Amino acid sequence: MIFKRLAVGAFLCPILNKRFILCSSSSCFHSLSPGTAVSERIGDLPSKEVASSFKDWFRSRNDVLLDHIFEILSSQADDSVSRKSAELALSRLGLRLSEEFVLKVLHHGEDVLSCLKFFDWAGRQPGYHHTRATFNAIFKILSRAKLMSVMIDFLQTYTNQRYMHKVRFYDTLVMGYAVAGKPEIALQLFGRMRFIGVDLDSFAYHVLLNALVEENLFDVVEIVAKQIKMRGFENQITSGIMVKNFVKQNKLEEAEAFIRGLVSNGGAVDENVVCIVVDAFCKQNKFEEAGRLMNEFQEVGKFSMEHIYSIWIRDLVQAGKVDVAMEFLHSKKIAEGYVPDLFRYNMLICRLLRENRLEEVCDLLMEMKEGKISPDKVTMNAALCFFCKAGMVDVALDFYNSRKEFGLSPNSLAYNYLINTLCGDGSVDEAYRVLKNSIERGYFPGTKTFSILADALCREGKLDKMKELFVVALERNVVPSDALYDKFISALCRANRVEDGYLIHGELHRLNKVATRKTYLHLISGFNKSSRGDIATRLLIEMQESGHTPSRSLYRSVIRCLCDTDHPENQFLKLLEMQLSHPEPIIRDYNFFIDGAGHAKQPDLARKVFEMMVRSGVEPNLSSEILMLQSYLKSERISDALNFFGDLCKRRKASRKLYHTMIAGLCKANKPDIALELLWEMKEKGLVPSLQCYEELVKSLSSNKNYDIVVKIIDDLEKSGRHVSSFIGNILLLHSLRSRELYEAWVRSRDVLGDASLSGSLTLGELVGAFSGRIRVSGNIENLEEVIGQCFPPDLYTYNMLLRRLSMNETMDYAYEVFNRIYEKGYEPNRWTYDILVHGLFKHGRTNEAKRLLNEMLQKGFDPTDCTRQLI
Ligand SMILES: *[C@@H]1O[C@H](CO)[C@@H](O)[C@H](O)[C@H]1NC(C)=O
Ligand SMILES: *[C@@H]1O[C@H](CO)[C@@H](O)[C@H](O)[C@H]1NC(C)=O
Ligand SMILES: *[C@@H]1O[C@H](CO)[C@@H](O)[C@H](O)[C@H]1NC(C)=O
Repeated sequence: MIFKRLAVGAFLCPILNKRFILCSSSSCFHSLSPGTAVSERIGDLPSKEVASSFKDWFRSRNDVLLDHIFEILSSQADDSVSRKSAELALSRLGLRLSEEFVLKVLHHGEDVLSCLKFFDWAGRQPGYHHTRATFNAIFKILSRAKLMSVMIDFLQTYTNQRYMHKVRFYDTLVMGYAVAGKPEIALQLFGRMRFIGVDLDSFAYHVLLNALVEENLFDVVEIVAKQIKMRGFENQITSGIMVKNFVKQNKLEEAEAFIRGLVSNGGAVDENVVCIVVDAFCKQNKFEEAGRLMNEFQEVGKFSMEHIYSIWIRDLVQAGKVDVAMEFLHSKKIAEGYVPDLFRYNMLICRLLRENRLEEVCDLLMEMKEGKISPDKVTMNAALCFFCKAGMVDVALDFYNSRKEFGLSPNSLAYNYLINTLCGDGSVDEAYRVLKNSIERGYFPGTKTFSILADALCREGKLDKMKELFVVALERNVVPSDALYDKFISALCRANRVEDGYLIHGELHRLNKVATRKTYLHLISGFNKSSRGDIATRLLIEMQESGHTPSRSLYRSVIRCLCDTDHPENQFLKLLEMQLSHPEPIIRDYNFFIDGAGHAKQPDLARKVFEMMVRSGVEPNLSSEILMLQSYLKSERISDALNFFGDLCKRRKASRKLYHTMIAGLCKANKPDIALELLWEMKEKGLVPSLQCYEELVKSLSSNKNYDIVVKIIDDLEKSGRHVSSFIGNILLLHSLRSRELYEAWVRSRDVLGDASLSGSLTLGELVGAFSGRIRVSGNIENLEEVIGQCFPPDLYTYNMLLRRLSMNETMDYAYEVFNRIYEKGYEPNRWTYDILVHGLFKHGRTNEAKRLLNEMLQKGFDPTDCTRQLI
């Protein structure tokens, strides 16, 4: 149906219609996110033509002059020079002032001040005098703006104004006070003037009567109404006010009967009177009664229905019954050729737009265009929003860019839509330009738009623009969301602009915005990267004040960063002091500092902290001692570590954990001999070394090719009834692949079968032999895998090693099988898995397969090793 109606106007804008027909049915309009379905379907249809057909329509608007007047009025600063220049500009327009024109201007005005200025200027123009109607209009504007005091000032001083004497003095005063909501004063004045023998005119009587109704002074209403009647001033306006009088007292039936009476005895009544009661029913949600009444009065044939329909539609829309309103509109259009006025169109369009009913919006806009209904600002803004929502960014932008041509001044909603749409379309620079423009015009985007734009700017790395946006936002006390704040800071840090990030952070901090933990992390690691330990320190303390608890690794980073400066000790102690002065100093803080200093390879600082701890009466716990030991060991200060360890052992019974720390640390420091001594020592003391001690020892001893001891240690491990771990097993296999020495050490230590074409089980030593190529293993791969499984639990690393072993055989067939087994076992092949296989395939000349696998490897994001690269 919609498209049929559209087709009627097809000659006006074939392109636009084609577009909408192209994306027929609902799918592409509802749920529109800008730049999706519609623009894709539209493809390369020239949007210029759509734009120009709308532009022609916009140019036809007839309130441009009024806009222009208000532009002049609102742009002037409040000093005499600019006031003069504005008045000059107004004079140059060559306006023909009349009551009608002034009323039109006042009606069009948005801000009270401009209206007042115009009123004042007009009153001083030769040949024009304000009338009661214009006075009433300005009074109404003032009272609507709740500027009663301005108005009363106005009334009190107005006798001094030359031009005021042209209108009747008392009439104006009575009207003024009546409209100002001071009917008592108005009545007093009325009484006084009657006393001195003057009377109000018809207009002023009605203003007074209306004010009395507004203020619920129903008794006085009756009296004044009688006066009006006596003077023969009674007309439709009187009837309207009387109906309102009933409505105000919630006497809708009486109001209805009153109108019926007027109709039947030929009284003064018009559609405006009917509107009041229809509106009253609607406002009480009695739409059925209102509808019935509307039909009844239509049948009278005396009223022009447009105005009544307009009120009906307005009330329906306001009550959220848009569907009913649209249905009504269509039926009246067909049956009676009803055409809504501009305001009703605008209202419907805006509401439908809000509900994303874009097809209907489009229909209405087309109808207006076809019906040559002159659009106003609201219509143009709605059209702009519509094109944004429909994803027709080009058209929207074209309108925007040529806005001066037809006097379009976007409102905040239109700005928001345009900015959102441009961001969604990837035109972030355009969006930013529009934003700057909107700010110049005094609009700042809504929160959602702000974050969409900020998001896009961050994403595209347009950080200067982002910074500018942030500054403007902060100037307006718009505080960004946590997520946005964090995103911006992290983008700045990524771009190595952590100082800028810090400035922004400072600004927000000043506004009592608490940064998230994540934001602090970004900033601290930014300053860590640029070696600004001082600022990192400040942030570390500040984040705790903001209620976040830094992790141990954050302390490590900050302390390391501090220790890279010229005076590490001063800085370090300062931070410690700040930290300790903070909440009550706890062991944890001290421990973090010992740990941090240890990681920064500053064991002397660590020791200082340890001593301070003791001095200040905080008993170091086992963790403190372990961290202290680790600090020495990390810096390879072996004798210090041993001394400290010795002291600890003297003080209390050395624990397994301390031994463990020493053994692991010594191994890492490549001192396996001393570590080994400690291992025997702890065993002598009846302590059971942890598996990790054995692992570290095997690793360190193997690197030193001290294979005889390795075998001895493994013996010891097995004797204590424990199993070889995957870690140890893998080290053994690795070293077997490299040389035969490990196997030889094994043979020296005990009996190993020289030749095993065995299919059954192998000992660990035999497995080493097999990997060293000293023992031939026949049978299939499952066999070998099983053998490994009997010695230790294989992991991915083990499979890789097995793969390497099998790649040595030129057939390579088993290698593939292992590759598949890896998946079967639930592992994901890693870089090494691929590298080994690719390497083997190239080496054996199976180039095609190698290339295929290499491709797969690259696709998974793994780089081949240099060694493999040489073969490619
Ligand atoms: C601080 O820098 C070091 C190296 O310079 C790095 O290892 C560490 O992860 C960084 N810490 C943070 C929190 O970024
Ligand atoms: C030492 O004290 C810290 C802080 O209270 C605690 O986290 C840690 O677990 C303690 N260490 C031991 C071994 O008790
Ligand atoms: C490679 O494996 C095949 C099949 O098991 C075997 O016959 C051949 O001897 C092996 N070659 C080497 C060099 O190990």
